[in-house]
Amino acid sequence: MNNKKLENVIISIFCKYGLTINHSKICAKALINAELVGAPSHGLSRLKMYCDRIKKKVINSQPKIKIKKISQSISQIDANNSIGFVAADIAIKTAIKNAQKTGIGLVGVKNSGHYGLSGYYAEQAVKKNLIAFCFTNAPPAIAPHGSKKSLFGTNPICFGAPTSSKVPFILDTSVSVINRGKIRVAARTGKKIPKGVALDKFGTPTTDAKKALEGVQLPIAEFRGSGLAWMVDILSGVFTGGNHGGKVKDPFDDFSGPQNIGHLFIVIKPNLFVGNYNQRIKENIKKIKRLPKIKDVKEILYPGQSKSRRYKINLKKVINIPKNILEDLNKLLDA
Ligand SMILES: NC(=O)c1ccc[n+]([C@@H]2O[C@H](COP(=O)([O-])OP(=O)(O)OC[C@H]3O[C@@H](n4cnc5c(N)ncnc54)[C@H](O)[C@@H]3O)[C@@H](O)[C@H]2O)c1
Repeated sequence: MNNKKLENVIISIFCKYGLTINHSKICAKALINAELVGAPSHGLSRLKMYCDRIKKKVINSQPKIKIKKISQSISQIDANNSIGFVAADIAIKTAIKNAQKTGIGLVGVKNSGHYGLSGYYAEQAVKKNLIAFCFTNAPPAIAPHGSKKSLFGTNPICFGAPTSSKVPFILDTSVSVINRGKIRVAARTGKKIPKGVALDKFGTPTTDAKKALEGVQLPIAEFRGSGLAWMVDILSGVFTGGNHGGKVKDPFDDFSGPQNIGHLFIVIKPNLFVGNYNQRIKENIKKIKRLPKIKDVKEILYPGQSKSRRYKINLKKVINIPKNILEDLNKLLDA
């Protein structure tokens, strides 16, 4: 199946599950993008989960999304338990519009769901020559430093900036050593996870993906990563009106209610303080890329460069659909 056909299949599935054609298109594009940038853990492997949540009415297929304008720069969105992709799509577009008008756009979202890759939204702003920060919280996976109970999500931190070239700077990183999606894929496919990324439920280091999912993921850089996860929980949850403090439900395992995830988008014009941002960013990147390299490193990359290269290569290929996911797709189509 070619990628356009695959996108149409996903659109048909979401429509079948009650989403509008417009919302189905937004979701399908986000899932295809995840596959193309080489993040299958956030792509087709999640389609069944989204459909299950729609069927169990913990994702609202026909949300009445409210956008409240607080000022020319600031908007608050109540996503009415929509699928996260749709809430985030509206939010980043609103933040872009606000920033284009006033220099800075701040949009908080509550009552949303899992929105996939943060970088996908930051890229939309960077394509319009704007700087962007995107934050979202996620279900408990990481134990706060000093605790043996997981409470923070893998809470990605995302920062995008125009580079004055075709390849944007997109730092988009979970605050766990590896993202939970990769552990889920390893658990599904019976593969081991690397050492040093998780503890089992007894607090013992493990490379068994299933045991890691029952246990605790480790944050990057110990207390520093724990602090960053906490910051994202405050910005995305406490600040926006979304769930926080470990209350975001696991989308795969907990169907007892909507996730009520919060997101925060901050979009800024790059020339607020200087007239020559483009020249300055070019010089900045050039200087760093020219630094002497350690052994075996051919090139110093900036965040987003390798993803952009993967995307270009993958765009020319047909997306590989693992057998179990193809079976899910066919079942969802026939449902
Ligand atoms: N919605 C959610 O709840 C949720 C939760 C966690 C993660 N995610 C998403 O999962 C995705 C993957 O996260 P991740 O932490 O596994 O990302 P990752 O470890 O693959 O990459 C992290 C960052 O490092 C950069 N990078 C990679 N190699 C580099 C190199 N050699 N030199 C310089 N920079 C380099 C990447 O461009 C990226 O910005 C992200 O898009 C994130 O938004 C979503």
